[in-house]
Amino acid sequence: MNTVKTVRELRAAIARARSEGKRIGLVPTMGNLHSGHAALIVKAAQRADFVVASIFVNPLQFGPTEDLATYPRTLPADQETLLQAGCHLLFAPSVEEMYPHGMEDQTLVSVPHLSEGLCGASRPGHFDGVATVVSKLFNMVQPDLAVFGQKDFQQLAVIRALVRDLNMPIQIIGEPTVRAADGLALSSRNGYLSEEQRAAAPALYRVIKHIAEAIHIGERDLNFLLANGVDQLKAAGFRLDYLEIRNATTLRPTTAEDHDLVILAAAYMGPTRLIDNLHLTKE
Ligand code: PAF
Repeated sequence: MNTVKTVRELRAAIARARSEGKRIGLVPTMGNLHSGHAALIVKAAQRADFVVASIFVNPLQFGPTEDLATYPRTLPADQETLLQAGCHLLFAPSVEEMYPHGMEDQTLVSVPHLSEGLCGASRPGHFDGVATVVSKLFNMVQPDLAVFGQKDFQQLAVIRALVRDLNMPIQIIGEPTVRAADGLALSSRNGYLSEEQRAAAPALYRVIKHIAEAIHIGERDLNFLLANGVDQLKAAGFRLDYLEIRNATTLRPTTAEDHDLVILAAAYMGPTRLIDNLHLTKE
């Protein structure tokens, strides 16, 4: 596996793969890779002949009080993970390479509505930063397909919308969330948790699953389920950002007619913000 740091080298390597008739798969990441990321690479390798991963901690998607400076940068370990998972090329650019004209005047890609509620409400500008960097990576790599984790459900919806609206000929594949044995969704931010916080954190998915099971067996009072869930999360030591049930396609508040639902949560365990979700079909 080669690592390249410039767009020029990236394009040259991809042109070579294309000239050999290879289908290109892209897995954009911010590094500090875990088995959830490895699963994205494995999926890309099943669907494409030449797998490109990117590692770029994108300043444009971090708010001023967020963890940009402390976000873990673990390139040598990440290179090993990518190699083992079947990646062919790593693109690991600097901030200057990605934003050579600075970020102030950077053209932004903004997906209305889908970017606004849920995580977008507490992280203003976050999804514009994601949509912009993903669009740039798509233009640099021009992949046939790209793989993203379903843990970032709203992010995946935003990316699907931008590809559709900007007519990008790229297949977007959502890969199921990889979890620890106790149910906690794998995330680079789990590393911030103390031992005690890590022990309490699986409550996030437990509460979501409990709501899904109640809907499954016919409970239709969603407000009651959500209020109960909020109480349980607080009792487990979480400070809640949101716990919501939404239409899984539009991410708008669900109505009685909706069958395709998603339960989404974001909550702080100490200073660490964790997110999780569960996609379900209501009979
Ligand atoms: O999910 C992530 O790691 C990031 O938001 C992404 C998609 C790589 C864009 O920076």
